[in-house]
Amino acid sequence: MTAIQASDLKAATREQWDKSAQGWNDQGALIRAWLREATGAMLEMADIASGARVLDVAAGAGDQTIDIARRVGPSGSVLATDLSPRILQFARDNARRAGLNNIETMVADGEGLDVVAASFDAAICRLGLMLFPDPLRGLRQMFRALKPGGTACVMVFSEPARNPCVAILAATALKHAGLPPRDPFQPGGLFSLGKPGLIDDLFTAAGFSRVATTKVAAPFHAPSVQDYLAFARTSAGPIQQILSQLDDADQSAAWAEIADKLSAFTTAGGWQGPNELLLTAGRR
Ligand SMILES: C[S@@+](CC[C@H](N)C(=O)[O-])C[C@H]1O[C@@H](n2cnc3c(N)ncnc32)[C@H](O)[C@@H]1O
Repeated sequence: MTAIQASDLKAATREQWDKSAQGWNDQGALIRAWLREATGAMLEMADIASGARVLDVAAGAGDQTIDIARRVGPSGSVLATDLSPRILQFARDNARRAGLNNIETMVADGEGLDVVAASFDAAICRLGLMLFPDPLRGLRQMFRALKPGGTACVMVFSEPARNPCVAILAATALKHAGLPPRDPFQPGGLFSLGKPGLIDDLFTAAGFSRVATTKVAAPFHAPSVQDYLAFARTSAGPIQQILSQLDDADQSAAWAEIADKLSAFTTAGGWQGPNELLLTAGRR
């Protein structure tokens, strides 16, 4: 990817997440339930303890930021950073509503964090790094921000076959937008870091030691397929980005086909979409 392509992709990503900010925040309860266990495992792997200073990269509406702030307690603190000013405003509002005053926010590209070097005990990034055009740069920024001995942990989607609903969303949206199927592992895509071994190699290249990856099953539960669709239609920034070039009627046709395909995941107890996430940790 050239520097111009990367900067165009980043501008489009910021604009899209500004648009999806309200939806991601409104769907917070479903997202929280979906990622609860995996988030707990991520905070364990990042060795986040009472009193720690933690960097949260691509923090979004701050769901995991709040978990971290509670975990580090009043003697610790979290800096929540994100490319999108609008989604970060939700993180600020949610922190205030939760009565937490150990959270600061900073609008920042994760590939160019203006933070003091060696000033954080831990760094995390939940479902953000795969959207970076150059994830190695993002990991180098996290490495630089950590104190020696500090730990980073990153959560990303694994392979498309292990995340069939996300794969269906992406493939169907591309087809309706008249775009050719994409290499799922291309930089900046939802599965870009799901290629076996890739994220471990990037951690090592960024300078981390003791690099380890764990796979976590994170099925998405919703009362019905319509609830999952409501989540995807309002919050799935990368899918909305693909469909945004279509008029309303063509977008509706795309969502109707997606609904039809995703209905296959309806169970006796509601709708359940399988997902597999990778949690990768490394030490500075
Ligand atoms: C799927 S959301 C995840 C948000 C949050 N971490 C969570 O799990 O709820 C992806 C987030 O990554 C952010 N993002 C994408 N590219 C970024 C970049 N280059 N630097 C910082 N944030 C970025 C988006 O703005 C968005 O808030």
